[in-house]
Order: sequence, then structure tokens, then C-alpha cells
Amino acid sequence: MLEIKNLSIHYVGKEFVAKAVENVSLKLNQGELLGIVGESGCGKTTLARSIMGVNPDSAKIASGQIYFNNNKILDADKKINDLDFKWKDIAFIPQSAMNSLDPVYRIIDQMREILVIRGGYTKNKADERSEELFNLVGIDKNRLRDFPHQFSGGMKQRVAIAMALALDPKIVIADEPVTALDVIVQRQILDLFNELKHKLNLSIILVTHDVSVVAYICQKVAVMYAGEIVEMGGVESILQEPYHPYTMGLNNAFPDLHSTNDFLVPINGSPPNLINPPTGCRFKARCPFEINKCNDKPDRYINRDREAICWRTSDQKKLLEESKKLETWEIKE
Ligand SMILES: Nc1ncnc2c1ncn2[C@@H]1O[C@H](COP(=O)(O)OP(=O)(O)OP(=O)(O)O)[C@@H](O)[C@H]1O
Ligand SMILES: [Mg+2]
Repeated sequence: MLEIKNLSIHYVGKEFVAKAVENVSLKLNQGELLGIVGESGCGKTTLARSIMGVNPDSAKIASGQIYFNNNKILDADKKINDLDFKWKDIAFIPQSAMNSLDPVYRIIDQMREILVIRGGYTKNKADERSEELFNLVGIDKNRLRDFPHQFSGGMKQRVAIAMALALDPKIVIADEPVTALDVIVQRQILDLFNELKHKLNLSIILVTHDVSVVAYICQKVAVMYAGEIVEMGGVESILQEPYHPYTMGLNNAFPDLHSTNDFLVPINGSPPNLINPPTGCRFKARCPFEINKCNDKPDRYINRDREAICWRTSDQKKLLEESKKLETWEIKE
């Protein structure tokens, strides 16, 4: 349904170029829930926004194409960037969407704005649709005339989801939709995404830094590190049999249903500067399993639905065992 091929996005400033997304390829099938997970600053938002064409002007598309139902909606070479196409079929819930509701307008007015201006609805039809949408996301329709400050965080997130669904998209991209919420409300919102996926046959891309969110709801997951997708595959296999040491580290760093460890292990250090990223493997400086070869770009390991970019995939079983020990992740010399 959606296919991204070799996409690179660079932020170009006067004195720097930050390579925020490097050579990313991925596919999203109909009815699929894909998680994009990774630490802060690894390019998740830039990637999500590039699908919608809503990155700031300083973000240049250095390479790649994006296809929606086999139609090219973005092409770095041919300068195609078909925004009209995208807004109708792909909806975006930006990071902190719930805080970007306009405080001085009632929710109903903000709904009307989307439905009337972008969707061509009459005012009456827009109000009917708004009631239907509130019903869909589990808020009483009498609350439509309220102002944003009258809602809790979880309800505001539901409103943001209702707005995204207004024009009946095929794909919803949600950037950190549960990050600012407590765990109980997180679960309710994730359950809502799941319910909507089934009810509306939606495809969803869910961006998060939290592996537990991915484990709870996603079918497929792409792990991003320093602008690259370092590992991708089915959620079960990624969580239980990761090939990339970064994925192993992430799995250790979050409470996880499958893990037998009763401790959480942080990955020491921080992601590299994307203005001058390291050559070869971008994770090598923090990787406990680094070898000399890692100074060169690793080959892409592909096995059925699995992909990983690492030189050491053939040692996977051994490294996975090692990765479960606390001392493995102690600070590198
Ligand atoms: N407007 C911008 N100009 C220059 N660099 C930017 C800009 N926006 C983001 N970046 C850089 O691009 C990289 C990726 O940022 P991005 O916001 O996509 O990360 P993220 O994974 O969404 O992080 P977070 O989890 O904190 O939301 C970062 O290194 C960031 O500093
Ligand atoms: Mg982000």
C-alpha cells in the first residue's frame, strides 16, 4: 500500500548538513500496524513527516521515492511531491498533537475547519460527521462544543485521532501518540488504534521510542538508529530473536513481556551527531560487539521477513545470549 525506497532526508543549514534519514526503505501493507522505534533524535519524526510532505523547507529530499498504491507520490529526482493526493488518503497525527489543539476555538469549530475547508462538507454534514467521529473514538458527542482545556490529556489525544480520521484516510501515521500519557491511558489509546484498524481496515504507522508500545500493539517493526533502519521484521521475531545489537540493547532497556531478565539495562552513551555521522556502522561506538570490520558499511542481512544491517548476524545466537548480561553493556573503553 505504501512503499518507501531509499529515502534520504538532509537538513541543510548555512554551515551544516544533518543527515536525519539515510537510505530508508520500507513497506506498509493494508491493515498492517507498523511501529517505528528508536531513541530521541534518530529521525523518526523526519521520516514520518516526509511521507506527508510536511517537513520544514530546510529538509531536502536527497534521494528516494515514495509510492502509494503504486502511484509515485514523491520522487527526489523528478521533484514530484503530490500533496493533494496525500492529504486525502494519508492522515498524520503530529508529535504532541494533543497540545496543538487551538485553545481559543471550540472543538466543533476545529472539526468544521477540517471537514468544510479540506473535505468540502456543508456545515450541517460536517456536524453530523463530527458526532460520528466522536462516537468512533469514544467521546460523548455533547462534548463537541467544549474548548480543548476542558479535556484530559487522553481525551485530547482521542480528539486528535478523530480529526485525523475526519476525511476517511487509508493510512494513519501517528507520531508518539501516547508519550505524554500515563500507562493506563496509554493502553486505552493503543486499544483504540487497534479497534479502529479493524473497524476501518486502516493501515497505521506508529512512531514511538518505547519498545513496550511496539510489543503491545504492532505487527511489524522498524528499528531506527541515527537516521537508518538498522533492523526490521515481524514484532515477535524482532523482540525474541533480534539480530542487531542495538535492538538487543533496546529490548533490555524496556520492561518486556517476553524477557526473563528482572533488570533493565541502559545502552550507555548517546546516538552520534548526524552532521558528521561515523563511517561504517553508526552504532559501533556504543556496541559491545564491535569488530574492526564495523568501520565499513555492513551488508544488509535478509532472511524472509527479516532485515538487519550488521556485520555480526552470523553470530546472532551467541551475541543474543551475551546481550542479556548486565556486564556486557558496561561502559566501553
Ligand atoms: N528543523 C531542523 N533543522 C535541523 N536539524 C533538524 C531539524 N529537525 C530535526 N533535526 C535533526 O534531525 C535529527 C532527527 O530528528 P527527528 O525529530 O526526526 O528525531 P526523532 O527520532 O523524531 O526524535 P524524538 O524522539 O526526540 O522525537 C536530529 O538530529 C535533529 O537534531
Ligand atoms: Mg520525534
